[in-house]
Amino acid sequence: MNKAATIDTQSGTLAADNRARVAKPEHVPDDLVRDIDMYALDGIEEGYHEAWVGLHAKNMPKLVWTPLTGGHWIAMDGPMVREIYEDPTRFSSEVIFLPKEAGEKYLMVPTRMDPPEHTPYRKLLDTGLNLARIRDVEDAVRKTAIELIEEIAPLGHCDFSADYAKIFPVKVFMAMAGLPMTDAPKLEHFAVGMTRPTGDTPEEMAACLDAANTGFFEYVEPIINERRGGSGTDLISVMVNGTVDGEPLPHDKAIGMISLLLLGGLDTVVNFLSFMMIYLARHPDKVAELKSDELKLLRSVEEMFRRFPVVSEARMVAKDQVFQGVELKHGDMILLPTVLHGLDAKENKCPMDVDLERKGIKHTTFGAGPHRCVGMHLARMEATVTLQEWLKRIPAFKLSAGANPIYHSGIIAAVENVPFVWDTN
Ligand code: HEM
Repeated sequence: MNKAATIDTQSGTLAADNRARVAKPEHVPDDLVRDIDMYALDGIEEGYHEAWVGLHAKNMPKLVWTPLTGGHWIAMDGPMVREIYEDPTRFSSEVIFLPKEAGEKYLMVPTRMDPPEHTPYRKLLDTGLNLARIRDVEDAVRKTAIELIEEIAPLGHCDFSADYAKIFPVKVFMAMAGLPMTDAPKLEHFAVGMTRPTGDTPEEMAACLDAANTGFFEYVEPIINERRGGSGTDLISVMVNGTVDGEPLPHDKAIGMISLLLLGGLDTVVNFLSFMMIYLARHPDKVAELKSDELKLLRSVEEMFRRFPVVSEARMVAKDQVFQGVELKHGDMILLPTVLHGLDAKENKCPMDVDLERKGIKHTTFGAGPHRCVGMHLARMEATVTLQEWLKRIPAFKLSAGANPIYHSGIIAAVENVPFVWDTN
């Protein structure tokens, strides 16, 4: 979908393609302006990662400014993405979703807090998702994967996205949270409204995100009320009965935090798994390499997360400053496409290759700094289990002839329509 049209940065009005463009602020130099739409990347038909990386070939400055999506900066350079994530004193989490108008409607906790306010909430999140807790659920997670794969294997075909990726991590997460699978489609609908909001103007996108945020909040509130004070060991009970700085978790914060967990647990792994498996379907040599050596398979997971990042959130400039020679104003927004770190050729040689021998892997797929993904142990385990159990049962899979996966860009990238076929003899 190439929606590019004439740039009208001076008038700040709708251009020919109906997308709102804002006027360029005075402090933004003309030579840093590029027409990049994070929700409709040029070249997205070829793939989400390919579309972002294609921009590197266009001789991009390290920091560019786009008049689209409310007007914002984009960090195009891998180390810069990490540096911004790591420094909340210069780059705040006060608003993290774009357009900024939509980000201001996003009320989840504690992603919009900076340290020190963020720290005690983060400690509570860690108690529910730390490595020890994730190891405890590994057997159940593996059983879920095996059941699903054994249903699919005799068929000789599937839509990997619909039949596995959209089910496996969701089943795992709903079980951990003590929620019925029948609620999953509703939650998926809210998650999509938050991470890929629709609308041609920032206001329309803000309305979509607001509705999705309200949907999450209305869903979790009665569940929180029911589990508060109980002795349940599910993730939600552990959170709502936990403490923050020695005090019970306040009700409004509990609503924001449980909603965030649902959002984080439902949309990310789903899409990551599909991206990874499309690559393997196209590279049987890599499948053979993974199958030849269990240790190599275990080590490959980090390389997979480097190669297939899915998150593009933002930071708000915390104070007027000159950053890497560019003047930034308090309140400016900077998009941090994590894809531009793992796939930066300066950081990782031949970045589009999955190199199972790669040393010193560099990426920011799980973010960095105080908000680094709290779900990463779960995500890593789900990826490992999928590789182990799928490749054991369906090693020789490929995309069916004429397959045309549909890619979406946004706060979380997505891919649908992933038809695989394999021999059942
Ligand atoms: C492929 C899988 C995943 C990826 C790529 C991913 C990526 C990220 C990134 C980039 C951040 C940083 C956000 C920021 O700094 O503003 C983050 C934070 C977070 N993630 Fe994940 N995530 C994944 C899986 C999960 C899962 C499975 C869960 C939940 C079970 C989860 C829950 C969270 C939470 C709660 C935060 C906020 C942490 C905080 O604000 O301190 N994530 N994730």
